Amino acid sequence: MRTPFIAGNWKMNKTADEAVAFVNQVKDALNAIEGVDIAFCPPFMAIPAMAAALKGTKVGVGAQNMYFEASGAYTGEVAANMLTPFCKYVIIGHSERRQYFGETDETVNKKINAALASGLIPIVCCGESLQQNQAGVTHDFVSGQIRNGFAGISAEEAAGIVVAYEPIWAIGTGLTATAEQAQAIIGGTVRATLTELYGDETAQQIRIQYGGSVKPSNVAEIMAQPDIDGALVGGASLKPDFVELVKNSV
Ligand code: 13P
Repeated sequence: MRTPFIAGNWKMNKTADEAVAFVNQVKDALNAIEGVDIAFCPPFMAIPAMAAALKGTKVGVGAQNMYFEASGAYTGEVAANMLTPFCKYVIIGHSERRQYFGETDETVNKKINAALASGLIPIVCCGESLQQNQAGVTHDFVSGQIRNGFAGISAEEAAGIVVAYEPIWAIGTGLTATAEQAQAIIGGTVRATLTELYGDETAQQIRIQYGGSVKPSNVAEIMAQPDIDGALVGGASLKPDFVELVKNSV
């Protein structure tokens, strides 16, 4: 069975000091919740201090991005092996990275390979815009993101990757896809595409999160869907009632 996985994507919020103060406030309560994997993905500057604060707890740390080259003249970038001492996870291809920082399916593919080579678990994001949703091209677009992102990735590697389906129109807008809408794409497009690529046995092992305005009040309904294994949570992971959200997910 796939262990549920709730991850907080803090985006560009909280200094290192604020991050440590926050996790010190919630870590014991989160550590006591069984049957779910939990992680926070803070800005780079907070990662080492957070990893130290969360040591010995079940709460993991992830990065929000990384570069695919191992080292070199890439001003401003961070390599996978710089994250490995502190992080278990790395978010790859978030829609905000694609929208504002020029990420493509090709860079996503390179980053997945680099993350795996350094022993990080990629959380690979996909999802359509409002315009694409309204034009009825969601299935083809999201399926294409998965196919291109996973190009050349073996079944064995794919089994350990986490996919996050985040419809762009539901991110930070308060608009949530209904649990049924999320299930329809996560089951009928994301897992279906992974089944075409890798077969049923592998596709059934891959954890798929939903992201987009997940809150303590709607997480249970989302998690009740058969193909939804977790959530990638933005705004609601910055507040202490994230503990309630995680409790309500199991
Ligand atoms: P919100 O939960 O704030 O809508 O953000 C979702 C998201 O983008 C997580 O990666």
